[in-house]
Amino acid sequence: MSTKHVSVLLNEVINSFEHLESEDLVVDSTLGGGGHAKGILSVYPHVRLIGLDRDDNALEIARGNLEEFGKRVRLFKSNFSDLDNVFESLKISKVQAILADLGMSSFQLDDEKRGFSFRMNGPLDMRMGLNEKSAYDVINTYREEELARVIYEYGEERFSRRIARRVVEKRPIYTTSELVNVIIVAMPASARKRWKSTVIRVFQAVRIEVNEELKNLKTLIEVARKYLSTNGRITVISFHSLEDRIVKRAFLREEFIPISKKPVLPSENERRENPRSRSAKLRTAKKA
Ligand SMILES: C[S@@+](CC[C@H](N)C(=O)[O-])C[C@H]1O[C@@H](n2cnc3c(N)ncnc32)[C@H](O)[C@@H]1O
Repeated sequence: MSTKHVSVLLNEVINSFEHLESEDLVVDSTLGGGGHAKGILSVYPHVRLIGLDRDDNALEIARGNLEEFGKRVRLFKSNFSDLDNVFESLKISKVQAILADLGMSSFQLDDEKRGFSFRMNGPLDMRMGLNEKSAYDVINTYREEELARVIYEYGEERFSRRIARRVVEKRPIYTTSELVNVIIVAMPASARKRWKSTVIRVFQAVRIEVNEELKNLKTLIEVARKYLSTNGRITVISFHSLEDRIVKRAFLREEFIPISKKPVLPSENERRENPRSRSAKLRTAKKA
């Protein structure tokens, strides 16, 4: 595949783990192509890393990218919400760092048949892993009110009701292009020139619902609370306000000490060179 995934806030992620010492154990819970993992393993030469992804394709790419680190790396196909099971199976009771770089990788976004991108005509899929529900199921089987709720809550889209109504009228809908057309026609004519932002919000909403992204994030933070050693750190890169809100609130609760009040944002340079980074916010907290 010709796609390349450029890791967002790479140096900032590495710096957020400056507390690491020799032999410490780091978990990359969203391995993707392994870009962040590679940076961490290179800069902190004696740490060991457990890498997780729910996507087979990501694991395969990461395995190739991290080969040089040999036994320092162990990779698992798992949802990060099941991280405690991975720890139990490995008899691990404490780790010193956990990373989550949320959302999709470019490998996923640019693969037409995965159906993540509104710019390509793919099937309504959007599954990151093997979860059973796909975008097809959400779009074609949810009741109108349920669909409106998903679009409103996870997309923060004000035309949610009109869009849900139109979707239900036009079902069955099979492809991403069909869905884009239905969304545009559902919008009031006066708002249609801003169709792209609405489409992006609806796609985001459906993807969050399909992959249970917010629920999984909350579970991951709970697991981190339990398994991080004292002064161990968790770093999360989020890509929209719903995720960032969850992280920010969780880091203000007891047992976590946020490393800074404000999130770390990409530099001008990074924003220019990697448009995917533009909405990224990085937060780090340490375990009290
Ligand atoms: C933005 S990419 C990570 C890129 C990676 N940090 C790098 O530098 O190459 C996010 C990855 O997390 C995975 N992912 C998303 N949610 C997940 C979850 N709940 N459990 C496990 N993996 C997940 C996706 O499949 C995707 O490969």
